[in-house]
Amino acid sequence: MKIVRSISKLKQIIKSFKDSNYIISLIPTMGNIHDGHIALIKRAKSMNTICVVSIFINPTQFDRLYDFNNYPRSIKLDCKKLIFYNVDIVFIPSILTMYPNGINNYTYIYVPVISEILDGSKRLNHYKGVTTIISKLFNLIQPNLAFFGEKDFQQLIIIKRMVCDMHYNIKIISVPIFREKSGLAYSSRNTLLSKDNYKIAHKFYLILKDLANKLKYNIHCSIVNLINTAKYQLQETGFIVDSLYILDYKNLTNITSNSKYVIILSAVWLGKIRLIDNIKIKINN
Ligand code: PAF
Repeated sequence: MKIVRSISKLKQIIKSFKDSNYIISLIPTMGNIHDGHIALIKRAKSMNTICVVSIFINPTQFDRLYDFNNYPRSIKLDCKKLIFYNVDIVFIPSILTMYPNGINNYTYIYVPVISEILDGSKRLNHYKGVTTIISKLFNLIQPNLAFFGEKDFQQLIIIKRMVCDMHYNIKIISVPIFREKSGLAYSSRNTLLSKDNYKIAHKFYLILKDLANKLKYNIHCSIVNLINTAKYQLQETGFIVDSLYILDYKNLTNITSNSKYVIILSAVWLGKIRLIDNIKIKINN
């Protein structure tokens, strides 16, 4: 595996693979590689592609300095895992490499409206930071395929929209949420949970699953009541509910009688850690 830190080296290696007609896959990460990332890598490798993983804790997508400063950093261990899974290139740029003119007043890519709703309304400028860094990585690597997990579902929709609007010739492949045995969705932030909080974290998913089951067969009963019951259960378990929505899966708008699939999207606080999760449901009318 090649460990690359500079843009010139990155471009040189990518070019040599492209000259030999290889298909390039990009898996953007912020490091602290876990089984959720590995699922993306395995999918890319199963498609016989040159697998590029980027590790960059992108400062412009953090709305709280505390979160940025405390984001888990484990580059050495990450590289060991990436070698084990036969990743071809890991790109680990510095902040200066990715933002040559600094992170104030940087040139950005912004997907309007959808970046402002739901999680975007809670985390100021978060999605602007995400689309900007992903667009930089797309420009530098020019992958044929890029892989994203479905855990941050809004992020996935926003990136697909950016690819369409900016005419990127890149196929976005989404991979279902990868969960621990308990049901807890893998996340780099899970390692920051205290021992006690880790023990209850999986109940987030269990409560959402319960809500999903009720919703599946009772779509006509009051959505507000179902949401309020789930919020109550979450609070009783020890979570502080940041958001809980039930929306049309296709466009993240309110459910209508035409909605075939809906999605439960939720964010909760557990101590100082914010967890997100979602469940897609087919409606049995
Ligand atoms: O989902 C993430 O880990 C990040 O938002 C991403 C896509 C790597 C951009 O920094």
